[in-house]
Amino acid sequence: KEQDRYDHFLFGKKVLITAGPTREKLDPVRYISNFSTGKMGYSLAKVAASLGADVTLISGPVSLPEPDDVQIVKVESAEEMFDASVQYFDRTDIAIMTAAVADYRPVNVASKKLKKHDDLMTIQLEKTKDILYELGKRKKHQFVVGFAAETDQLEENAKKKLYKKNVDMIVGNNVLEAGAGFGTDTNIVTIFKRSGDRIPLPKMTKEELSYRILKEIEKELKGEEN
Ligand code: CTP
Ligand code: CA
Repeated sequence: KEQDRYDHFLFGKKVLITAGPTREKLDPVRYISNFSTGKMGYSLAKVAASLGADVTLISGPVSLPEPDDVQIVKVESAEEMFDASVQYFDRTDIAIMTAAVADYRPVNVASKKLKKHDDLMTIQLEKTKDILYELGKRKKHQFVVGFAAETDQLEENAKKKLYKKNVDMIVGNNVLEAGAGFGTDTNIVTIFKRSGDRIPLPKMTKEELSYRILKEIEKELKGEEN
């Protein structure tokens, strides 16, 4: 097992990864975001680079060290992450979307700090663009992988995303499970493939899981060649 870490099976492959949360501005001092820390995406980027891939990491705001040998593109909002992802997609062989992209953003962004007034306040939100859906639509030779963060009905929800977003693989995790989800160094996931294959994996470190996911992708790509 440890042996094939040194077999650079991603040599020459261009891998695009999104990671971290996005920030949706409300005014100059406030934003809407989520608990993503970027660990899964950064780990995938690091492991993919160590396997010989040419990695571009589109990262929302995180406080993780930048992996060596990885091209990092820093973005803040879902809109910026969308634009950067679409820009790099044509020259990508494998796209892995781990980012926790905000689903909604404030309709109005105030140019001055909002002052408090009434006891109740309502913020109007509008949907952001779905990056993974867009890449699924544009997909030609690319192998596209999505993540699914769920709190319940993991299998049903993950499979829906697999087909609706026209992706090749979904890595589903229950974010409420201990040792899985946001901020942890470990994860517990099930991989869902287009073939209908379902691979439940035990709890492992995000680094081990990164290797496992990349190995599964390689297997699928090899299968296509044959
Ligand atoms: N995703 C994306 N762009 C968005 C929202 C999600 O690229 N605007 C990607 C995520 O990076 C992930 C996958 O879509 O790879 C699934 O994200 P998730 O939040 O689990 O699902 P959603 O499709 O946003 O649906 P919901 O949050 O309602 O479950
Ligand atoms: Ca979402």
